[in-house]
Amino acid sequence: MSKVHVLSPEVIARIAAGEVVDRPASVVKELMENSLDAGAERVDVELRSGGKDLILVRDNGSGVERADLECLFARHATSKVRSSEDLETLTSFGFRGEALYSIAAVSDVRMRTATAESSDAWEICQKGGERVSLMPAARTGQGTELRVEDIFFNTPARKKFLRADSTELDQVIHAFLPCALFYYGCSFTLTNNGRVLYDLKPAASRADRAAAALNLDLPYILEAGEDVPGDNVRLQLVLGDINIQRPRRDLQYVFVNGRPVQHKGIAFQVNDVYRLIMPQGVHPFFMIFLDVPPEDVDVNIHPQKREVRLRQEGRVNSILRSAVERALMAKSGARQFAPSQDEPVLLPADQGISADRILFHSRQSGGFSGARESLGIPRPLAVPEFSQERLFSSPQEGLKERLARGRLIGTFMCKYHLFEESDSLFLVDQHAAQERIIFERIMSQVNSGRVEVQRLLAPLAVRLTAVEMLAWERLHGLLDQLGFETALIGKDAVAVSSHPLLLSAPENVLRQLLADEGQLKADTESVARRACRASVMSGDRMQAVAAENQLRELLACADSMTCPHGRPVFIEMKADMLDRQFFRL
Ligand SMILES: Nc1ncnc2c1ncn2[C@@H]1O[C@H](COP(=O)(O)OP(=O)(O)OP(=O)(O)O)[C@@H](O)[C@H]1O
Ligand SMILES: [Mg+2]
Repeated sequence: MSKVHVLSPEVIARIAAGEVVDRPASVVKELMENSLDAGAERVDVELRSGGKDLILVRDNGSGVERADLECLFARHATSKVRSSEDLETLTSFGFRGEALYSIAAVSDVRMRTATAESSDAWEICQKGGERVSLMPAARTGQGTELRVEDIFFNTPARKKFLRADSTELDQVIHAFLPCALFYYGCSFTLTNNGRVLYDLKPAASRADRAAAALNLDLPYILEAGEDVPGDNVRLQLVLGDINIQRPRRDLQYVFVNGRPVQHKGIAFQVNDVYRLIMPQGVHPFFMIFLDVPPEDVDVNIHPQKREVRLRQEGRVNSILRSAVERALMAKSGARQFAPSQDEPVLLPADQGISADRILFHSRQSGGFSGARESLGIPRPLAVPEFSQERLFSSPQEGLKERLARGRLIGTFMCKYHLFEESDSLFLVDQHAAQERIIFERIMSQVNSGRVEVQRLLAPLAVRLTAVEMLAWERLHGLLDQLGFETALIGKDAVAVSSHPLLLSAPENVLRQLLADEGQLKADTESVARRACRASVMSGDRMQAVAAENQLRELLACADSMTCPHGRPVFIEMKADMLDRQFFRL
């Protein structure tokens, strides 16, 4: 009996759909792109349950003619490409004729559409790839509305992989924002369960749109352009200055010929230039708009078109680097420095926050505040003899006692303190040690219900993006227990009125916690662990006394061996290990 057979159309449809549509966010992306391809100037996105129950995208674009409706949901049905030459000169988002087909294969879709010329609107319903109905409907204006319900009803495995509503919503926002940032002259709204998350009016410039959509301060954003006709390269840059700093690279957008893409090479080059002005450990905001001849870009290397390949990448990179460098340096003369992260920003008087927490004063743990370097994660030692097993083979007590007798002989790279004790050399990771000390102190304060807090004279206002705001709503109860007292001011900012005394850089810590919210377990311990990590910076030079004090505090911890994230805090090297390296043994 033959074993090879051609798959049934239904199976083919589900496999194809799986490549294009993997979660509500990919549906939103495809539908918004269709709207923009249809010349819409207004796009409204409505969700229920982060898109799991309903995704509705409405536009005022060209609409679809009655004659085209019949084949609209067929595979490879597109109005955007006719010949393979067209593929070489694409200017639209769409080109495969796959999106509607894929979405309809795994959900319940209703499309209502009207063109400028037609006197009627038409409504077409599809479910699981089958036509349910096609009939005239009341005309409410030119444009198209797509309603997608019951997503993945026939692919239970996919459905099971959908995450919490809040996670799906975050993903939708990540799909929504690039469209809204690029089409700055258009209106966009995004609502979830009736709540308006974005309401973006047409903006006068890319910088204006970025400020509105990402809740940034316009004076900190600069725009620059670069035309290099000889190389067929056109660049537009929207760059945050040094005042916009984020613990993550989440405010970075790259567009190639109008298409939002993830292009590691371009993002790397720009981040690299920013290293000239940005402190380590924080990342800038930027949007890069690169235009090259369509034939120099291959968009067809990723099923969801998220990645592109560039010809002449080397040349593009060098043009990009010098353009970014010039733009940043031109601005730097007039640079406004942000207030230091610990320095409060004044708020209007009526937004002050009541003083209801008792303050307990304690010595701020020494030596680290003000350090700016990013966290140095210790690499495992390359020499096989220094394996973890060997290093930790002695019982913890013996090790700690030996380390306690250690004499400080120096510090290596402002990172590791070296202690000697008879035939042992101990290397203590000053950053991991500090994390452990602070974490244990904070947890003991949390457990005893008396968290030492630093009350700010004037609350620190922190403007949040929509994603950060959603995370704050879920996290602020836990933050409060930790001594991070925050309150909503307006609809897009929070005021920090106190923070745990042991944690410096409260804005940085807050943003880091909000960025991590999806991964954090909802308990104070996980939040405290992450907060300590975000607060402690490595790379600061420590005085000998401080290093010795730190060692004493470390050894007093319940667990002195590892940092709160499980990495070793110190390692021991025996003289005989070194002797072996020098072939003395
Ligand atoms: N909102 C809309 N307004 C007007 N026409 C639309 C709209 N959405 C889809 N269409 C029409 O339906 C066709 C099929 O859409 P679909 O998204 O499946 O394919 P595509 O956009 O051509 O290619 P791709 O699969 O790459 O997105 C489009 O080519 C377009 O003609
Ligand atoms: Mg499309």
